[in-house]
Formats: sequence, C-alpha cells, structure tokens
Amino acid sequence: MKLADNKATMSFSDGSPSLEMPIYQGNVGPDVVDIRKLYGQTGMFTYDPGFMSTAACQSAITYIDGDKGELLYRGYPIEQLATNCDYMETCHLLLHGELPNAQGKKDFSELVTRHTMVNEQMQFFLRGFRRDAHPMAIMTGLVGALSAFYHDSTDITNPQHREIAAIRLIAKMPTLVAMAYKYTVGQPYMYPKNDLSYAGNFLHMMFATPCEEYVVNPVLERALDRIFILHADHEQNASTSTVRLCGSSGTNPFAAIAAGVACLWGPAHGGANEAALNMLGDIQKQGGIEKIGDFIKQVKDKNSGVKLMGFGHRVYKNYDPRAKLMQETCKEVLKEMGLENDPMFKLAMALEKIALEDDYFVSRKLYPNVDFYSGIVQRAIGIPVPLFTAVFALARTVGWIAQLNEMIGDPEYKIGRPRQLFTGSAARDVMPIVKR
Ligand code: SDX
Repeated sequence: MKLADNKATMSFSDGSPSLEMPIYQGNVGPDVVDIRKLYGQTGMFTYDPGFMSTAACQSAITYIDGDKGELLYRGYPIEQLATNCDYMETCHLLLHGELPNAQGKKDFSELVTRHTMVNEQMQFFLRGFRRDAHPMAIMTGLVGALSAFYHDSTDITNPQHREIAAIRLIAKMPTLVAMAYKYTVGQPYMYPKNDLSYAGNFLHMMFATPCEEYVVNPVLERALDRIFILHADHEQNASTSTVRLCGSSGTNPFAAIAAGVACLWGPAHGGANEAALNMLGDIQKQGGIEKIGDFIKQVKDKNSGVKLMGFGHRVYKNYDPRAKLMQETCKEVLKEMGLENDPMFKLAMALEKIALEDDYFVSRKLYPNVDFYSGIVQRAIGIPVPLFTAVFALARTVGWIAQLNEMIGDPEYKIGRPRQLFTGSAARDVMPIVKR
C-alpha cells in the first residue's frame, strides 16, 4: 500500500485537539484512513458493527467491485478463470499468486492427489454422530480433528508447515465431505482414486460403491470443477475474517479452517444455498410460479422475517458475476441430466425475473448471489441439499488458506482484538445474598 498525498483530519466540536490521519491507497478500490493512532491520541474507538466501513487488513488475493459486479482472483476476472482454467490452476493462483504453466499444473495436481487419503483413524470420528447429523456438524468436527494427526504441519509460523498444511487441507476436504455423505446414507466410504481429476475424484467418492464400476460423467465433472472455482475465494467475507481472526492467535491451520467451516454454515452466509433450495421447495409446495407473488409479499413484510435466500450481498450492489456463471452451468447440467424442464429451475428463473422488476429489490440493489443457483446445480448433480454448504466449504478452503497464509506472512499482523462501546453497568458492590 502507498501513502496518499491526501490526509484525513478529525476535529471535535468541543474544541479537543484535532487529529490528522494518513490515507493509504491500494492498487484498485477504496483508499483507507489509517486510524491506528486514534485511541492512543484521543482515548476514543471507532464504532463499526458488521465492519460496514472497515478494512481489517491489506490483501493482494481477491478484489471485488460491488458496483460493477466484478470479481478478480489475483487480477484475473472470474469469468475468464471459470472458462479457461480448472480448479487446480485456480488453487495454485490463489496460493502462489500466479497461474501455473503446464508442468507447474501437473506437479501441483499430483502433489494434491498424493494427499487425498485421510488417516484411517478419521473414520472412527464419524461413528459418534447420529446418521441424520447435519454434514456441516460433521465437517466442523472432522476438519478440526485433522490437527490431531498432522503434528508435522501445525506450526503456522513455519513456511514449510504452512505449505504442507495447505496441500493436505485442499486434498482432504473432498474425501471428508464424501465420508460425511456416505455416513448419512449408510454406504461404505470410497477411497480416493489417483487416476481421477480433483472433481472427478469427488464424484467417485460420493456416488461410487464397491459393488460396481463408477464412470465419471465429464459434463458433471466440469460443472463441479466450475462450482469449486466460483466458490474458491471472496475477499474478507465472514468466514474468511473468522479464519484470519482465529489464525491470528497462532493456532494451527486445521483449527483455523475448522472455524471458517463453522462460520460458513450460517444461512446468511454459505448456508444460503441450502436455504435457497428449501425456499424454492416451499414455494413449489404452495403452488409454484403462481404463488411467487404471495411469497414476495411475505418478503416485503418486515414482520414476516422471510428473506429471499440467495439474493442480496454486503458488497455486490449489482448482479453477482458468479450467479451468472452458475446459471449457465445450471443449464448445461440440467440439459445433460434431461432436466431442462426442471420445475425448480423454472421457478428460480421466474422468481429472479419478478424480483428484479420489483422496486423493493431494485431500490435495495438486491440481486441474485452465488447461492441462488448453486443449489439447483448441485441437486441436479445428485448432491443432497444438506451437503450444499459442505461443498461450498470444500471449495472455499483454498481461499481461507491463502488468506491465512497471507496474514501470517504480513510483518504488520498482530493478534486480532477488537474493542467495544460499553453500555453495561458501571462498577458496583456485591451485596450479601440475604440483602439481595
Ligand atoms: C454469501 O460476504 C461474502 O462475500 C459472502 C459470499 C462469499 O462468497 O463468501 O458472497 C457468500 O454469503 C452470499 C450471501 C448469501 N446469503 C443470502 O443469500 C441470505 C439472504 N441475503 C441476506 O441475508 C443479505 O442480503 C446479506 C446477509 C447477504 C447481506 O446483508 P447486509 O449487507 O447486512 O444488508 P442488509 O441486511 O442491511 O439489507 C439491506 C436491506 C434491508 O432492508 P431495509 O432495512 O433497508 O428495509 O435489504 C434487505 C434488508 O432487509 N434485504 C433483503 C435481503 N437481503 C437484504 N430483503 C429480502 N431478502 C433478502 N435476501
């Protein structure tokens, strides 16, 4: 970051001395006012619940222009990556800053492949869960449990440890997600197969059984790979910020990523894809497209507590570019699966059209986000609804790790420790219980 010529001055109406603060510029996007001296010089904090106007860090990984609906991974537009690259190339890009050449891609992919198995002991963790446990409950446990097995890569201050932990996490997430799924359906776990692609391996571990040969469908394989690319990273979203804050204590990478998994589960964040599909299912049950008007009325009624899941975004005040790409992938997969007339997809398209013509959504700049169509694609591939967010976590793991490693590598980083505006009781004395 570079110091701007411009400076910020904070003055106070009570005549307290004003404060001059430096302004820094990034390469693109908003400048920042450096308020680090504010508390020391004024005894006051800033107040920004939800961090609506706060940059928590500097980063060179992902840039979002919410007004334009633009998303860049290390400078490359998401549309070009989703069209010209695969997820392994995208992982290399996010972790190392550059797309690999052919040899680099081969080496990276082989390194990941060789780490896709998990320790045989991991399977015994699953037995403790009920068969109907939510996959994200299982994943939160399993990812944290990885730190019990890989003591040779838990020192986050050691670059070699960070490198191998990154590969292990990227490699093992598909295996763990597939195990979480198999456990809930009572089928045996399928071991990874080293002759399959990353996405193909996931499909195999999910849908193969020991009883017969499973052939990976190339259209589904490509669609899943694109879904992974679209979900790989997204600047300082809630789960990434959780991973950074958790990792800032110096905890091991597996524990920090487990914290990200737990945060992503929420319906306002990664859980929205599952919630969006359940919402479409409810509308379907109530009568489908004819009932969209009634549903929209509920959404507009603040007292209903009903939101249009898969719509709206803290940063995007335009169409989420990932939603557009997801819609295209949706069409490809539905066609491949002979589901062109899938009522859920038709309902989603009708809902989007109506919402985008309704002033309630237009005035609030609420557009479809990545979660609006991702559930329909995953459902068409055969992935059960409760597993959607686990697939999101699988894909986002590389982004979480890249952001965590960037933070640890930043000489300015400290343990994150926000303050507060205290509105509770001032000091008071405890009375003996007989007098309370
Ligand atoms: C992801 O941050 C990221 O980058 C996340 C993510 C990633 O890749 O990591 O992109 C992934 O989490 C995408 C978002 C998935 N969540 C959903 O689809 C859930 C539904 N969306 C909302 O809950 C909401 O839009 C948020 C949480 C996504 C954003 O909320 P904000 O930025 O805090 O905005 P807000 O809640 O203040 O909304 C502004 C207005 C409010 O109305 P008013 O008070 O102005 O009258 O818009 C309304 C909100 O009530 N609103 C919605 C709405 N989203 C916002 N009304 C109906 N349906 C919605 N979906």
